[in-house]
Amino acid sequence: MIEQVKKYIEEVEQAGFKKLDEVEAFRIKFIGKKGIIPALFGDFKNVVKEDRKEMGILLNDLKNGVQKKITELKDQLENLQADSSEYVDLFMPVNKEAGSRHPLSIVRNEIIDIFSRIGFNVAEGPEIEDDWHNFTALNFPEEHPARDMQDTFFIEKNPDVALRTHTSSVQVRVMENEKPPIRSIFPGRVFRNEAISARAHCIFHQVEGLYIDKNVSFADLKQTLMYFAKEMFGEETGIRLRPSYFPFTEPSAEMDISCHICGGKGCNICKYSGWVEILGCGMVDPNVLKSSNIDAEEYTGFAFGMGIERITMLKYQIKDLRLFFENDLKFLRQFESAI
Ligand code: DAH
Repeated sequence: MIEQVKKYIEEVEQAGFKKLDEVEAFRIKFIGKKGIIPALFGDFKNVVKEDRKEMGILLNDLKNGVQKKITELKDQLENLQADSSEYVDLFMPVNKEAGSRHPLSIVRNEIIDIFSRIGFNVAEGPEIEDDWHNFTALNFPEEHPARDMQDTFFIEKNPDVALRTHTSSVQVRVMENEKPPIRSIFPGRVFRNEAISARAHCIFHQVEGLYIDKNVSFADLKQTLMYFAKEMFGEETGIRLRPSYFPFTEPSAEMDISCHICGGKGCNICKYSGWVEILGCGMVDPNVLKSSNIDAEEYTGFAFGMGIERITMLKYQIKDLRLFFENDLKFLRQFESAI
């Protein structure tokens, strides 16, 4: 019997479990009503006199050992559960699959790269904007229907707490804080209260460009945009400018590129016109310069704004804008090689 008890003591010392249920089974096995320890104490009366002392000590050691082990294991497992709801297997092999860059990040970086080669730096502004930077300083008159061109998300009843509807707001912030010459692009997220479809989303990305200096002309704008179109879509790409209206530029234009899919012959991407629209642009309205305390007699400038989703869709022939936000790995992995 002494040998048997010594074996139990050893078993208890070595016990280790991964689940609380197993600890409970261990408790029942040793100190449950019909467990090993009550049985051993029951048999104590049958132990021969000479062995009683040793047996008594061993039985007490066993009992204390079991109790100590249970407390120890419970503490360990409960702490582990508090750290994470799942059991963490530290010996599991590592997941060797690398992530890939999102197509919108790839294209944003490419746009930054193209413009930085001709001396544009990058600036950013806040996504939560006030009326001044998003509208008023950009020459959107109060109550003017142009404000409805972009359905705004107001966060509070206060019109000064809204999500910016375009990255043009960053133009104002940069002009307020820097002196010309300014040659910058502003990439960022923008928000509009629009129904989500294959062609529209309430969250999307834009890159705004601004160039202010003495004697900046429409010819400079045209050359800059032509350079961009060729770098982004290929040397053979042509551009055309159509007159348009934006409150912050005068004159304003929209720019099309010759369809890089059919080379201008006509296909369903360009709706058989041979041209696809990619951005809005124009000469910065003198009122906008004045709002930011830049002398409109001394300086002129151009600005442009494009949607990163639009450029990416054209470049990779993606037909549904919602794919950018679904995070389906099968979709995202296709762009890995382009990093
Ligand atoms: N902010 C315009 C938009 O969101 C895009 C744009 C048009 C930006 C013309 C400009 C510009 O800087 O000159 O639709």
